[in-house]
Amino acid sequence: MGIKVTILVGTMTGTAQLCAQEMELALDDGDTAVETLLMDKLDASVFAREGVFLVCTSTYGQGDVPDNARAFYEGLKAARPNLSQLRYGVFGLGDRTYAETFNFGGKRFDELLAELGAERIGERHMHDASSGVLPEETALEWCQDWLARVKQSQPA
Ligand SMILES: Cc1cc2nc3c(=O)[nH]c(=O)nc-3n(C[C@H](O)[C@H](O)[C@H](O)COP(=O)(O)O)c2cc1C
Repeated sequence: MGIKVTILVGTMTGTAQLCAQEMELALDDGDTAVETLLMDKLDASVFAREGVFLVCTSTYGQGDVPDNARAFYEGLKAARPNLSQLRYGVFGLGDRTYAETFNFGGKRFDELLAELGAERIGERHMHDASSGVLPEETALEWCQDWLARVKQSQPA
């Protein structure tokens, strides 16, 4: 049976969106259907969609989620929906130059979703812009590994 993946994008200057596009291209085939949504106008109702979710977000300010993710993040925090049926992954973007708040955007979503009962599949990825490695390249490999884990852990 095919898997539906929704990628939720938090971005300021488009890098996370580029990564999401690469992941969509890599994962979307006859069996896996992928849709990418910017977080801008989302609320908790997005989690009524079928399938698994991939949060792909950068970090801004002092370890904050990007502006386009703020309302969604704060809304979830306030509404506290029960997400115990939800399975998700996190592809975070950041820069180790911000040592105190490295990759906090992805970390914040991860911690919030876990608090709301959701189950993370695989490790949270933490891309480091200062490493010189292109995140869209890492994203390709990472998302394939993530999807394999999703398939392995598929509830009966
Ligand atoms: C003003 C500014 C603040 C940032 N703050 C952080 C931070 O606190 N922690 C972190 O890990 N990265 C931080 N970053 C790095 C970005 O998250 C990183 O460059 C990311 O790849 C940008 O992705 P985007 O284009 O999708 O927004 C910051 C970047 C800028 C320009």
